[in-house]
Amino acid sequence: MHEVVASILDPVPAPVGTGYDSIGINCALRRRMRNEGTMDSMRSWQLTPTSDGDLLSNGGRLNVADIRLLREQFVDFMLGYKFAIDEITTKINILREDFNNTHEYNPIEHVGSRLKSPESVLEKVQRKNYAMNLAAIRENVLDIAGVRVICSFISDIGKIRDMLAGQEDITVLEERDYITNRKPNGYQSLHLIVSIPVFRSDRTDRMPVEIQIRTIAMDFWASLEHKIYYKYRGEVPPNLRSDLAQAAEVATQLDEKMEALHHQVDHTEHTRTSPADSLDLSLLYDSITPNRPAHRLPGGQPA
Ligand code: GTP
Ligand code: MG
Repeated sequence: MHEVVASILDPVPAPVGTGYDSIGINCALRRRMRNEGTMDSMRSWQLTPTSDGDLLSNGGRLNVADIRLLREQFVDFMLGYKFAIDEITTKINILREDFNNTHEYNPIEHVGSRLKSPESVLEKVQRKNYAMNLAAIRENVLDIAGVRVICSFISDIGKIRDMLAGQEDITVLEERDYITNRKPNGYQSLHLIVSIPVFRSDRTDRMPVEIQIRTIAMDFWASLEHKIYYKYRGEVPPNLRSDLAQAAEVATQLDEKMEALHHQVDHTEHTRTSPADSLDLSLLYDSITPNRPAHRLPGGQPA
């Protein structure tokens, strides 16, 4: 067993990007492939039996069938988080499309998501000293499913937050406002941990998803800081740290300026009135089908 676990607990290589794939309409396929890739990589974990066909564990022996079962259960466990990402992403894409239809601008610039790799889930469990079992992971590791929403303006962040939190199947478990309380290094973002029901073939599971909502400027800053942080393995030199803090300040000023400009633009929003169910659609029908015989009113009179 130790060789199997060692292979999935190998130090996680320094990530090049932030781990979040962008999900524009064109990128949906890429995201799906990435998520399925994670599942495939779990399926392809190599079992390395000893010469007698068993696998060594802490003092005991596990046979290949035991390990296969463990792996299958872990794959099934992770699949729930992938479905949770799909659910939240669909909700955000619905808001995006609905906003496009109703308002004059769209508050959502990009949506991205990432499913933590099995290696980083288990690495986090070990680092945080949680028990090495699914119940402990379910309870303690709440960021296996991550969705990032990039907004145009600061004021959009609260709007998106409220629209999501207001949905009746979403429960906000935790909220961290790093915009009002910027991190000392300059990091800004609104973090929500929400739970959402995922309807599986044989059960319903409530799954946690970490949602990060931020502006384009905040995102630009965070992705550069992330790269610098990994390049220096967490030991960022003081001059770079102070430059980053200054850049965060400039990003805030840009966000505030853009927000002010946005408000100056006269965008008279056409408020949507819910259509009455009794609305007579025959005029609409006539306008789109001009060559058909005249519409008849109930009772046989031509309209
Ligand atoms: P973890 O245990 O590492 O998940 O952190 P946490 O539970 O204290 O949560 P926190 O809200 O601080 O961070 C969660 C996520 O937000 C991270 O995984 C990053 O994606 C992002 N994040 C938080 N702080 C920073 C930061 O200083 N810089 C950057 N670039 N991203 C950050
Ligand atoms: Mg995290």
